[in-house]
Amino acid sequence: MDSGPSVTVRGVSKTFGRVHALDDVDLTLTPGSLTALVGPSGCGKSTLLRMIAGLETVTDGSVLVDGEPPDVLRSRGDVAVAFQDANLLPWRTVTSNVALALKLAGRRPDPARVAALIRTVGLDGFESARPAQLSGGMRQRVAIARCLVTRPRLLLLDEPFGAVDELTRRRLNVELPPIWQQQPTTALLVTHSIPEAVLLADEIVVMSRRPGTVLATVPVALERPRRASQLHSAAFHALVDEVGDLLSVDRDAPAVAAGHGA
Ligand SMILES: Nc1ncnc2c1ncn2[C@@H]1O[C@H](COP(=O)(O)OP(=O)(O)O)[C@@H](O)[C@H]1O
Ligand SMILES: [Mg+2]
Repeated sequence: MDSGPSVTVRGVSKTFGRVHALDDVDLTLTPGSLTALVGPSGCGKSTLLRMIAGLETVTDGSVLVDGEPPDVLRSRGDVAVAFQDANLLPWRTVTSNVALALKLAGRRPDPARVAALIRTVGLDGFESARPAQLSGGMRQRVAIARCLVTRPRLLLLDEPFGAVDELTRRRLNVELPPIWQQQPTTALLVTHSIPEAVLLADEIVVMSRRPGTVLATVPVALERPRRASQLHSAAFHALVDEVGDLLSVDRDAPAVAAGHGA
């Protein structure tokens, strides 16, 4: 049975000119799982996500999606990416930005699904608005709807809720995962919020400062479906503390690679 693609990152390093962004990264995404990626700003999270999308080359090492180069899955329209900035087409309405994703992925038009997702992300009433008429958080919500509309097998979310207000973010954290969990989807979520990582993920990968490498992988064995009420459980808080400690140990350590810098 299909449960989403596997992703295997082995010994991946990346340099941009003199900037050593990633160093010897190993990462495995299990089919059908959601992995959260946390780490200090500038440690290469977006770069790694773009490599898995097939949008960035590696300097060293390999990235395989179902055993093939990442652009193979992408060329089939099976990958969706929400970038840090929403990247909407400014001249298109909310509805046509979302609908365009279906067309680009080679899928049939599905106005009912487009409308339903726009409602789910809380943008009913804004269907005909253009991106310039929306707040940053609203634009990000359009980008999320655009990602989910194609039922991607690989879902790559780069701080998708960064500009979304806290209350909406909490609601989306609970309401969105069931949408992609209805179909076989492997997901990677970059986030700055440790509670969000714990609430959503099956596994949390903690990265070091630049050059980014994997410090630890923390399994999240909380019951699914996840509910907002779990935010108050002792198990939840223990995981938040564990990930927070891993990040702050790295912050307090002496710089590993003095001289690397932008
Ligand atoms: N296209 C690029 N050209 C040059 N440097 C880049 C490019 N993309 C990223 N970098 C650098 O690589 C490092 C990692 O960036 P990024 O992956 O965006 O980190 P993060 O998403 O963890 O904040 C940063 O120092 C950034 O400036
Ligand atoms: Mg980033």
